[in-house]
Amino acid sequence: MKKRIALFASGSGSNVENIIRYFMNSCELEFPVVISNRSDAPVHERAKKYNIPSYYFKKNDFENGEVLKFLQEETIDFIVLAGFLLKVPDNLLSAYPGRIINIHPALLPKFGGKGMYGSHVHEAVVASGEKESGITIHYVNENYDEGQIIFQAKCPVFPTDSPEDVARKVHALEYEHFPRVIGEVVLRT
Ligand code: GRF
Repeated sequence: MKKRIALFASGSGSNVENIIRYFMNSCELEFPVVISNRSDAPVHERAKKYNIPSYYFKKNDFENGEVLKFLQEETIDFIVLAGFLLKVPDNLLSAYPGRIINIHPALLPKFGGKGMYGSHVHEAVVASGEKESGITIHYVNENYDEGQIIFQAKCPVFPTDSPEDVARKVHALEYEHFPRVIGEVVLRT
């Protein structure tokens, strides 16, 4: 039986789209639902292109168990956060122990934690004169960006790079590695 993975996203969803495309013909993994805490997130349009239903849930629905109930009805085995900005509540962490992973657009433990998302991360990396940045794929626990690290990949940051330049390099790393790492982690879980 295929492993059923829910994709959680709050924004553009370019990683979601990349993951969906990568596994389009997979006999081992399927991505039957996309879940967002934003009704207007572009990720909904991206999911639609691939006929994957996407759902909007309010912040409170994540916390009061509504989302968990939905995931259980959908017999979801694993959760992947791809640009999902809400904190994952305890009810989901206990129902999916070791089965929720996230991608962070920097080399954790640096540049992580509350408020460190999207362009804020790349701005902080450039402002602090870092010589490299990259991606971190990690398990999700009760603290933002602190779960066990599964995989990292690096890119150089040049003194002339703008935050947008860094974002471009980091996105390229995300597209290159995230789907493969998801496959590896899910299949060994
Ligand atoms: C990515 O950089 C990801 O690492 C971070 O949020 C961004 C989402 O981008 N957590 P997109 O919505 O997949 O385009």
